[in-house]
Amino acid sequence: MLILGIESSCDETGLALYDATAGKLLAHAIHSQVAMHEAYGGVVPELASRDHIRRLVPLARGVLGQAGRRVEELGAIAYTQGPGLAGALLAGAAFAHGLAFALGVPAIGVHHMEGHLLSPMLSARPPKFPFIALLVSGGHTQLMKVTAAGSYELLGETLDDAAGEAFDKTAKLLGLGYPGGPAVSKLAESGVPGRHKLPRPMINSDDLDFSFSGLKTAVLTLVRGREPDPQFHADVARAFVDAAVEVLVAKCVKALKKTGMKSLVVAGGVGANKQLRAALGTAAAEKGFEVFYPEPELCTDNGAMIACAAALSLHRRNLAPTTGANTGFSVHPRWNLEEIT
Ligand code: KG4
Ligand code: ZN
Repeated sequence: MLILGIESSCDETGLALYDATAGKLLAHAIHSQVAMHEAYGGVVPELASRDHIRRLVPLARGVLGQAGRRVEELGAIAYTQGPGLAGALLAGAAFAHGLAFALGVPAIGVHHMEGHLLSPMLSARPPKFPFIALLVSGGHTQLMKVTAAGSYELLGETLDDAAGEAFDKTAKLLGLGYPGGPAVSKLAESGVPGRHKLPRPMINSDDLDFSFSGLKTAVLTLVRGREPDPQFHADVARAFVDAAVEVLVAKCVKALKKTGMKSLVVAGGVGANKQLRAALGTAAAEKGFEVFYPEPELCTDNGAMIACAAALSLHRRNLAPTTGANTGFSVHPRWNLEEIT
């Protein structure tokens, strides 16, 4: 079955064509709205929705063209049903349901974080179930026990800010642009380690929860009232990255130990972070576990992960073709991953 995957939960419009029978990604394309939102220092929801509407049809045509397939060959349309920005989700959901209705095929609503979580399945070296998943994005920081596609148990999560949010807020404090993660990571490379000591929130707590808002406040305290100084900012970026990475790695190691698992999947935007990957590599070699990532281009939001998650969950889906009688749809701006299992 040929599945069209659609992602539109935030500031990327992602489309992909996935062959569920062969288990193969045929084509994918992303339009990033970063340049459009940059002037505002963050995502403007209304602008995001309007831009998704503009991009969906050309991108869908683009992936079909890239793969040399026709729209009539589609067997299902998968789209991000939540969590995310309501208007942005509605743009993708409306397009998905409209197309599914026109073709008489099922429309499949996918949980955005399930997409991220299963995205390493698209890589050259996919993980095998069961595994622990660290989901680290702009809105989520969670540790999940994954026994099969569709079987997710939340082991711990952030009590306040998400890791990506902490990167973005730190970037703002350091006068860097949006999105902040890659910029903070790059600046940290020229920082001197250990010049500033920041807290490692909850690193010794017995649970698998996180807290990042105190870390951001500690950065604020460091930089407040200081004259702009490139080396000082680089040193602060370095201190922030070292603290965030140390906490993330420690909790992953703890989750693996508590569950006796030997495989870790890291997904979501922050999973692209160089320093996090290096530290996890060291810990994996020391403690004897394996780490799996999505391909670099599939770390941030994309349609391929949505199509892939739909393909891996067909068994638990109602695959009734969309007809005039069942075209109604809804989106879930807030939605727990555990609720789908
Ligand atoms: O998964 P994602 O693309 O969108 C959400 O679902 O949120 O994640 C975006 C988040 C942003 O907070 C961004 O700053 C962060 O991921 N991010 C990074 C890096 N690349 C993206 N954080 C740290 N280092 C990076 N290289
Ligand atoms: Zn995401």
